[in-house]
Amino acid sequence: MGPDPQARIKEPVRVGIRCIDVDHLAMHEQMTLFLGLLDRSSSQEPLAQAANDFFQITVRHFAMEERLMEATDYPDRGRHADQHALLMRILLDWWRGFVSRGQYALADEDRAFLVEWFEDHIDTEDRWLADHLRQHGYA
Ligand SMILES: [Fe+2]
Ligand SMILES: [Fe+2]
Repeated sequence: MGPDPQARIKEPVRVGIRCIDVDHLAMHEQMTLFLGLLDRSSSQEPLAQAANDFFQITVRHFAMEERLMEATDYPDRGRHADQHALLMRILLDWWRGFVSRGQYALADEDRAFLVEWFEDHIDTEDRWLADHLRQHGYA
């Protein structure tokens, strides 16, 4: 069964560190837009724009979290960054197919992975990171 295009993607849990929460909300908005355009097989231009916006903000956000982990010597930063890399691989695979072959489709399993990843990662890795950052005086 394919994804239900009407299904709302759950809003991200707040982790309580302002700069991270702000990014997550923006990423959620961009991902919803991107997946919505994919589902409607929108024309190439707006889809390319939405994908680009989503990927940009995601790359920037991951880099910010990784800088914070580095700066505070977060012990689990390797595992956390591996999860970021895994998501980027899926996004970049899709982008390559889109750019080189005009291929829209995101495999159902990749789509489900993306949505689940987003929920799970924030509710585990990012929450743990937020706890650690609070101990280092971040708010
Ligand atoms: Fe993260
Ligand atoms: Fe995050």
